[in-house]
Amino acid sequence: MDLGLNGKVVIITGSSDGLGASAARTLAKEGASVVICARNLQKLQAVTTEIAAAGGNVMAVQTDVTNPAHLENLVAQTVQRFGRIDALVNNAGRAAAQAFEQVSDAAWDDDLALKFHAPIRLSKLVIPHLRASGGGSILNILATGGKTPAAASMPSSVSRAAGMALTKAMSKDLGADNIRVNAVLIGLVESDQWVRRSASTGVPLTTIYSTLPRDNGIPLGRVGQAEEFADLIAFLVSPRAAFVSGCAINFDGGMSAAV
Ligand SMILES: NC(=O)c1ccc[n+]([C@@H]2O[C@H](COP(=O)([O-])OP(=O)(O)OC[C@H]3O[C@@H](n4cnc5c(N)ncnc54)[C@H](OP(=O)(O)O)[C@@H]3O)[C@@H](O)[C@H]2O)c1
Repeated sequence: MDLGLNGKVVIITGSSDGLGASAARTLAKEGASVVICARNLQKLQAVTTEIAAAGGNVMAVQTDVTNPAHLENLVAQTVQRFGRIDALVNNAGRAAAQAFEQVSDAAWDDDLALKFHAPIRLSKLVIPHLRASGGGSILNILATGGKTPAAASMPSSVSRAAGMALTKAMSKDLGADNIRVNAVLIGLVESDQWVRRSASTGVPLTTIYSTLPRDNGIPLGRVGQAEEFADLIAFLVSPRAAFVSGCAINFDGGMSAAV
């Protein structure tokens, strides 16, 4: 199936590593021009070199999404280089899961700054450009905890639940402009965050990936792969998903208790 992504311009936040980098690779292979961003310039440059070497059209903009001036620069540089924006994937995030009484005020503020306020600010900056393109897509990458918050899952599960409400409300506001807004709720997927967990705990990565499905009751019996995530993202931001808006799709191998 041709996704119709040729010539489309897609910004993906948190794309120097893990799932965001994988989505950037796939979107570039599908013909989109991709703008990747994160804080670590070296990692960004490595992904840029790899995508460009494979023939992809890519630009990296060093960005801390919690810094409003960085977001303005990201959008300005994208428009300057590519002249348009067709899709935004709000993906930058990190794990943050503790019991309620352990979460400090600062941890609540930090999590909401990264996972809630940053996507709001960046979406506001991007929307006029989506309108100018005749419509487009905003995709918020969340986590299954947003639908089914567990014990010791804060602040992330609460920030993600806010992201779900934001997704639905924005889809209602922006549909008349042919702007689709959706969310993908991640369960457990192979990515660099697990590589770092392995390094910090000394538990081999293969052991982590083999015990997670059992410990978390994943019906498909395995964790997801970054490339599988990337395929879903490519479809959702593409014109082939033209009638999909206002939904939150579980990407979790059936793990979540809620549809
Ligand atoms: N993998 C999973 O099992 C899983 C489960 C649930 C939810 N998720 C969510 O899925 C998304 C991707 O996760 P992942 O596993 O790919 O994570 P990852 O491997 O840790 O990658 C996170 C990316 O976000 C960037 N980032 C972090 N803070 C940032 C900031 N302030 N500004 C700009 N970029 C920032 C990181 O680069 P820098 O550090 O260089 O900025 C990196 O490129 C996240 O939102 C995560 O919470 C993942």
